[in-house]
This record gives sequence, structure tokens and C-alpha cells, in this order.
Amino acid sequence: MSLHRLMGFTSAVPDPEAVAAFYAEMGLTGDPVVGFSGSDGGTAVRVEEAPVRRLRRVEIGCESDHDLAEIRQRLVAGGAQPTGHPEEVVMVDPSTAIEFVIGVAGAAPVPAPAVSNPVNAPGATVRANRRAPAVFEGARAPRRLGHLVIGTPSLTGTRDLLVDGLGFKVTDEAEGIICFLRCSTDHHNIALVESPVPLLQHYSWECDDVDHAGHSATKLLRTDPERQTWGMGRHFAGSNFYWYLRDPAGSYIEFYADMDQITDDAAWEATGRTPFELEHVANSWGPDIPLEFIVPLDLDTLQASWEH
Ligand SMILES: [Fe+2]
Repeated sequence: MSLHRLMGFTSAVPDPEAVAAFYAEMGLTGDPVVGFSGSDGGTAVRVEEAPVRRLRRVEIGCESDHDLAEIRQRLVAGGAQPTGHPEEVVMVDPSTAIEFVIGVAGAAPVPAPAVSNPVNAPGATVRANRRAPAVFEGARAPRRLGHLVIGTPSLTGTRDLLVDGLGFKVTDEAEGIICFLRCSTDHHNIALVESPVPLLQHYSWECDDVDHAGHSATKLLRTDPERQTWGMGRHFAGSNFYWYLRDPAGSYIEFYADMDQITDDAAWEATGRTPFELEHVANSWGPDIPLEFIVPLDLDTLQASWEH
């Protein structure tokens, strides 16, 4: 594919220092200007200051100058007006005012393979006479930023810009509610949800396995149980385990593991992409989706600041 990786994003928040301290607690490295990364590197979350939280910029990598020229041509042919110097395409989504920046980027760093822990099951004892290694583990940095979910007042408008203009692929979709888009082999790198105001709804960090996600969320909750939002559970879309907590600015972070990987688009469409219905939107198992996940706690503040 011409797009091949999510590079990161920039958010603006009222208290960047509080967010930076939270990221340090998560085990991320970096700073607000160069960006915060997980242990694999390769993606960066930058933080700026603004009176009300908002998502400013999303960076995506494509493979070549030729890809970049094609993206620019598609946008112009669709009536959009991309800007940016020759090495990048900058496209502001009119529905959200979010700046999507596409540039040529090398491959993401190759991650060190996760160590798979032996898991006992009925009739299949693979770990005898000893405790599970996972009980001795603790929290450690997540691997990388995997995806973000953007609330948009025009789900169709933002979707069409990302799919028809930038070249994202549609992995799963519930019309008028949510669509999951990919620019890599991950089931989704960006998901879009209908929202009265533009919104960084959540952003998600990949973990080695369910224990890594569990230890990471637990550490943050022991410091402040009020951060708990939703989880643990398992999504239908993407198949991943999830656990969500609230960050100091009011967006949610997700620790996830075991997401669907699409290495063959035709195989996903032919056999992997089973029907995606309304009942699948929230999860496969786990607690019910909390109301604040749909109606953010600071919606009034966000609406008052959104003049568009
Ligand atoms: Fe997610």
C-alpha cells in the first residue's frame, strides 16, 4: 500500500506538564516537543498547550515520492486544496480542522519478538510445577502507539477524505456510527466516530500480551483509581484485548494486545472480514461500554470552544 505507517500525532491540552508526567508514569520516553514513544520507538505523541483539549495534527508515512504525488493529485481531483512543501502533503480536514500530514517515511522499527509465556489449558498442560511467569512481571512501557480514534461532526466527510483522498483502507464499518481504517497491517490505525465536536476520543498503545496490558493498567490505577474507564475486555473489531483509562486532559488511553493483522487484503475481504453489526460495536466480552465513552465528561467545554 502507498500509506504504510502511522507516525504519530500532536494534541493540545490545557496542562501539558500533567500529561507529560502521566506519560512518564506509563513508561513512555521523550518530551512534549520531540514526542513520547513506547519501547519500540517509531511513533511519537507530541503535546502543546491550548485552553481546551483538541487534536491538532496526525502524521502518516507513505512509501515514496511517487505515492506522495498521487495523494496530492487525488486530493486536488476531489476538490480539496492540500498545502505543504514538496516533501509532504498537508491536508486540513474541513469537518474537524485536524491537519493530516503525509510524508515519505522508512519502515517502522522491527520490534523484538515478544516472549510468549506458557499458558495451561484443559488437556494441554505446558507449564507444570511452577507459577506463571506473568505473576512475577510488573508494568513496563508499552511497545508503540497503534491507533487513535477521532470524533468528527461529519463521519462521512472525514471518512471520504481519509479513504478517497489519503488512501486509507476500510477494515470494518457500522454506517453512521464508526469506521475502522488502516494504513498498515494493523486492523485499524485510525477509527472515526460520529461526534458533535472534533475529538481525540482515545489513543492506543500496543502491549506484548494480555498480562502486559493488565500490569500496565493496574499500575496506573493503583496510583489513581479514578482513572478507570472501561475494561478489561475484548473487542470484536480488531479482536484485541483492551483496558481504557482517562488521561489528565480527558482523552482515553488504551492498552491493547493481540490485534488482528491484515497482511493480505484479499484474504481479509474473502474470509477474515465476517459481518460487522451494531451488536459488535462495543465489545465481544467485558463490561458494558460506559456512557462517558460516548458522551465525554467535558463535552460542554469542548462545544463552547468549537466555533467552526
Ligand atoms: Fe482502540
